[in-house]
Amino acid sequence: MRRKLAAGNWKMNGMSAELEELSTLARMYPSPTVDVLICPPATLLHRAASTVQATDIQVGGQDCHANTSGAHTGDISAGMLLDAGASAVILGHSERREDHGEQNEDIRAKARAAMDAGLKAIICVGESLEQREAANTLDIIGGQMSGSIPDQSTGENLIVAYEPIWAIGTGKVPTLDEIGEVHDFIRTRLERRFGEGVGRSVRLLYGGSVKPGNAADIFAVSNVDGALVGGASLKAQDFAGIIDALQNA
Ligand code: PGA
Repeated sequence: MRRKLAAGNWKMNGMSAELEELSTLARMYPSPTVDVLICPPATLLHRAASTVQATDIQVGGQDCHANTSGAHTGDISAGMLLDAGASAVILGHSERREDHGEQNEDIRAKARAAMDAGLKAIICVGESLEQREAANTLDIIGGQMSGSIPDQSTGENLIVAYEPIWAIGTGKVPTLDEIGEVHDFIRTRLERRFGEGVGRSVRLLYGGSVKPGNAADIFAVSNVDGALVGGASLKAQDFAGIIDALQNA
């Protein structure tokens, strides 16, 4: 059985004061029946970890470097994330691919570093609107998967997030059939590459404009094991609506 996961990506949002949202969440969900993960900016990671220490809520990073240490000004290693209290790291988010020109091979190297350090890698894949309209979605996702998912992946250390770029922060969401088609495709590809046992144990998240109002419908789609949530993870009340929908799914 795959344990469901509600993951929040705060992106470049959050000052010290916003840790109060996390305290609220910690009071509401000391031991949720699904996994709950918040990925704050790196500046807040250590304090976020302390904030949720007495609960089952976990914290994670939003990126890491492929190397373990060295002369890489401004970068953060997977080991450093772990040391700050993280249990997971988001990799290959479309904003990283776009803003920093990250390629599949970069993401694969980062994922290897994350897994070697003992972190779960949440690897993001997703098509642009242009690619969807040209009916290239599955080709794009397949290419991103073979390029960015490392061979050492298991159901323990890998989570795949399907995030159509055109649905991120836009309020637009694919139809449930479209989400199901891509998630079934990802599942089949994982089973083919890693064998049925591993392929079936990897958790698949949907991301892109998930809100309390649409979460239950999305969580009812087959092979959707949870969500990667941006905007709606910033406020405890909003994220609670999504956690509740997942707990009831
Ligand atoms: P959103 O972002 O929920 O604000 O659309 C999702 C994401 O980028 O992970």
